[in-house]
Amino acid sequence: MTRVALISGANRGIGLEIARQLARKGVAVVIGARDLDKGRAAAQSIASEGYLVDCVRLDITDSASISAAVDDVDLRHGRIDVLVNNAAILIDGPGGFKSSLFELDPDTARQTFETNVLGPLRLTQAVVPVMQRHNYGRIVNLSSGAGQLSDMRSGFPAYRMSKTALNALTRITAAELASTNIKVNAVCPGWVRTDMGGLEAERPVEIGAETPVWLATLPENGPTGGFFRDQRAIPW
Ligand SMILES: NC(=O)c1ccc[n+]([C@@H]2O[C@H](COP(=O)([O-])OP(=O)(O)OC[C@H]3O[C@@H](n4cnc5c(N)ncnc54)[C@H](OP(=O)(O)O)[C@@H]3O)[C@@H](O)[C@H]2O)c1
Repeated sequence: MTRVALISGANRGIGLEIARQLARKGVAVVIGARDLDKGRAAAQSIASEGYLVDCVRLDITDSASISAAVDDVDLRHGRIDVLVNNAAILIDGPGGFKSSLFELDPDTARQTFETNVLGPLRLTQAVVPVMQRHNYGRIVNLSSGAGQLSDMRSGFPAYRMSKTALNALTRITAAELASTNIKVNAVCPGWVRTDMGGLEAERPVEIGAETPVWLATLPENGPTGGFFRDQRAIPW
């Protein structure tokens, strides 16, 4: 039986590379993209290697888009085994690491939470009932070291708070699903060269996608409710 994976924001960056690596492992990949043309182009780049892939329009800030996308994937494939909550935004600034909490526009925080926290929440709520039909699921939440409370500092305040909240969402979801075969984990991909990470970032997407792919394909005795980087647990 072929596993089916839905990945949000998979038209570029780490999400696209997760899609490519999962496809190479024999997973039927569905690229979620808010711009369908960009999603199609991304799907084509994987399909041209001979792998199973299609795409669906998915804007994670839009409940109607989420339920239509999940229904569409369910109709086409009859199951969803893997959900990668990858899509996110980083709109703090100006100033990057120097951006101050005291200059943070609450609208920036609201918009960041809408995408980075409520997006994964809504998508998880929509996908889990489909996973439960087969009592199988692997949910991977793309978090960040920037959300680690144990190492919290200043800079990018809205993004940091959103990733801490995503970590909480990961723990709560894992706790609610503890008696099922649906595993829920958070991952920090490291600092990765993408539009978000920038050109100075140390890692290529191939490395950034490795641990998310590992979590997306965990065996039955694999962990749940954890936070990982480079396939090792890291502090919250
Ligand atoms: N890069 C890093 O160094 C780094 C480090 C730690 C964690 N992460 C996390 O890793 C994940 C991927 O990051 P990345 O570097 O690949 O980011 P990226 O290059 O900026 O790509 C972000 C993706 O999210 C999509 N997206 C944004 N808002 C969306 C929405 N409302 N609905 C659907 N899709 C939406 C974008 O779609 P459009 O093309 O339509 O804009 C794009 O496909 C994120 O969760 C990020 O926080 C990244």
